[in-house]
This record gives sequence, structure tokens and C-alpha cells, in this order.
Amino acid sequence: MKVSVFSAHKFEQSYLKSAIPNHQLHLIEARLTVNTAGLAEGCDAVSIFVSDDASAAVLEKLSQLGVKYLALRSAGFNHVDLKKAAALSIKVARVPEYSPAAIAEHTVALMLALNRKLPRAHHRIRDLNFSLDGLVGFDMEGKTVGVVGTGKIGSKVVAILKGFGCRILAYDPYINESLVEKYGVKYVGFKELCRSSHIISLHLPLSPESRYLVNRESIKEMKKGVMLINTSRGALVNTLDVIEGLKSGQIGAMGMDVYEEEEDLFFEDHSEDILQDDVIARLLTFQNVLITSHQAFLTKEALEKIAEVTAFNLDCWDKNKPSPNELKL
Ligand code: NAI
Repeated sequence: MKVSVFSAHKFEQSYLKSAIPNHQLHLIEARLTVNTAGLAEGCDAVSIFVSDDASAAVLEKLSQLGVKYLALRSAGFNHVDLKKAAALSIKVARVPEYSPAAIAEHTVALMLALNRKLPRAHHRIRDLNFSLDGLVGFDMEGKTVGVVGTGKIGSKVVAILKGFGCRILAYDPYINESLVEKYGVKYVGFKELCRSSHIISLHLPLSPESRYLVNRESIKEMKKGVMLINTSRGALVNTLDVIEGLKSGQIGAMGMDVYEEEEDLFFEDHSEDILQDDVIARLLTFQNVLITSHQAFLTKEALEKIAEVTAFNLDCWDKNKPSPNELKL
């Protein structure tokens, strides 16, 4: 099969080439957008990543070019118009799980780095400033962490934090009984989670219901000085409301691996550009904000799994078989 691989970043190209030797890969560094869709001409399948645009207009264009399959190299699919894909008979498959541990470990890395102020300490020492003023953290042991969404990633976060001696509150419409039994997790309503947690970590998908779950109102409910961590999807959080919370001190620290306007920024080197995004510019002025560029998944093991499952999805289609990873409406 001929496959156009959009957003084929350098960090993943070798994994894709070695896992998919039996298809003709056309590796394209550009994102899939309505302007770049034409690059898929002559291909049966297109493979995309989280920052690509698979909205109705783009799918329409791909369909006109004869593309029949869309292989997502991600678990999340909020960037794909599944209704339109179904209407155009484009099959869409994802990688439902690659390494929940990778994302959970990065989540906890953000918590620890913010709590113990590691980026500040690192910069100071490089400047031969060995003073400790301003670097006071808190013991994780005994603190209450609110985990929103206790699926594959949230469960791993719970397991790691339990090792630190944290008390865990959770909010999820589905109660994971094994977390209750094994780790004493207490499921509560979102308001109670906000009121009682020293740290709140988001591990739920983005949907119309969860969009802006963290907003001015819910921030008001939170403990003064709360630490917020978002490694799920940017638009779970109203970033302008978070900035207000940071300015007033209501939010004590913010760790984010995702950002609601990340498509035009993340994954690319903009070091030569003039920053046009005033919201991220403001966020970068806070000492207690730590931003990573959607890298929580970025481990060797996760890249191997993503490439392997993408190969499997393409192989199924090549043999005219449905893939178990196909997304249905
Ligand atoms: P999952 O499907 O295993 O778990 C999601 C959980 O969220 C489920 O238990 C579900 O019941 C719960 N949930 C759904 N709607 C909710 C709501 N409104 N309120 C509270 N809970 C709700 O998903 P998984 O694999 O744990 O992934 C979680 C999220 O992590 C993904 O949706 C994705 O956005 C993000 N992600 C981020 C990555 C990164 O590199 N930063 C990589 C992979 C995933």
C-alpha cells in the first residue's frame, strides 16, 4: 500500500521505517492541513499524528484524491471528523494504547519538577548561584491528589503516587473498583475533588462535555495554591482563566504538556520566529509554570508500539480485513 505519513518527525522516522517495511511510506514532515492534503495524491492511506487536521474539508480533499484509509498514530481522535470520514467511507483506525506508563511518568515528572522547582534550581546553578531562597517545596507524602479520569493513564498515575504516600481522590463516571481495593482511592464529585486536592491531574479525553472543565468557576472551588497538571488535551483547561488564577495566587503551579492552541506551536522549532501567541507568552513569564511540548508519550517503548500498531492497522486494510482498532461512530 502507498501511505502518506504526515507530521513524520525525525524522532519517529526510524521506528516507522523498521516497523513498516512492506508498505511504501511517503514521509512528509509537514502537518496535514487543507493546504498540504494534496501531497497525499496517489496514496491509498494517510497516517497522521495529534497535531494534524482531519476536519471535514481535509477529509473531503483526501477522498477526492482516492485515500481510503486514515491510520492515526495516536490514541486521541478529537482532531478527526469521524462522521465525515464515515460518510466518505474512509476507514479510521488508531493506536488505542501505546504506553500509559510513559504519560503517567511524565505527569509525575512535571509534579516533582514544579514542586521542587528543578528548572529554577538548574538555571541558578548554571549561573553559579547556589542560594536556596525561593526553592522551598512540599512533601508529597500525605498530600491529597485529585485524579480526573481513571482510565489507563490515570490508573498508572494513581499507582505511582500511592508509592509516595499520597491520598488519592478520583472523579470519573466509571468507578475502577480495583483502584478502590488496591490503593484506597476515593471517588468523589468534581467539586469535592477540587475543594480537597493539593494537586489536580487531568487524565480524561476532550469532549464537548469536558471542554473547559477547568475554568474560572472550578478554579474558585480549588484550594488556594493548588498545583494543576494537564497532560491530556489543552482545551480541558481555559488557559485565560488559569492565567488569572496564577496572577491571584489561587493556582500555585501549573504543569502542562498540552495547550489549547498547540497546533501552530508544538513539535516545531520556532526559535527564529517572533512569538505571535500572547497567551503562551504570558504563561512563560511565570516561574511556577512548566510547559513541555506534548512530549509525555515520547519514550522508545511508546514509539515502537505506535509504529507496530500502525503497521498492523495498515496490514489489516491491505488484506481487506477490518482492524480491531477502527473507530466507529
Ligand atoms: P482512557 O480512555 O483509558 O481513560 C479515560 C478515562 O476518562 C475513562 O476512565 C473515562 O471514563 C474518563 N472520563 C471520560 N469523560 C470524563 C469526564 N467528563 N470526567 C471524568 N472522567 C471522564 O484514556 P487514557 O489512555 O487514560 O488517556 C487519557 C487521555 O490522555 C487521552 O484522552 C488523551 O487526551 C491523553 N493522552 C495524552 C498523551 C500525551 O502525550 N500528552 C498521550 C496519550 C494520551
